[in-house]
Amino acid sequence: MRAIVIFIIVSILSIGIGVFGYTKATSSMEDLSKPGSSTITNYPNDHKPSSIDLSKYQMRMRWIYHSIFSNDCTKCHSKERALNAPFKSKAEWKTIIERMSAKKKADISTSHQKSIETFLIYDAKKRK
Ligand code: HEC
Repeated sequence: MRAIVIFIIVSILSIGIGVFGYTKATSSMEDLSKPGSSTITNYPNDHKPSSIDLSKYQMRMRWIYHSIFSNDCTKCHSKERALNAPFKSKAEWKTIIERMSAKKKADISTSHQKSIETFLIYDAKKRK
């Protein structure tokens, strides 16, 4: 008799823990398809170092990096997420930059988007 009671209690507890774990896991996920989704810190590229030697870059590219890219593209995630991304072509960067700029609170002007695109294509040619 006592064994049965203990068995039932253990069963109820483990179901409870399972349900709790599931709710926690799903609630901490963010819907990436929504343009409004904001800060996601756990992106593999965020944790890789970015080694970018600007000394060999054109003046204009250095300027875009410091004055535009480093402000606009670090509002929600590290600059590493962009710098370590595998994208190279104009089409790829255009798509990404448009997607980022469409996010809520991105606030990146069209002229800034154009400059960032120019910089990231140039940077990809230099480093990738
Ligand atoms: C409003 C917040 C926000 C801003 C501003 C922002 N990002 Fe993002 N970025 C995100 C979020 C959220 C993700 C993950 C979801 C996604 O890929 O849309 C992401 C993901 C990325 C990725 C990985 C995409 C992939 O498919 O691998 C790259 C690259 C990136 N951002 C580059 C940029 C660049 C370049 C800029 C500046 C023009 C920028 N981000 C500005 C929020 C932002």
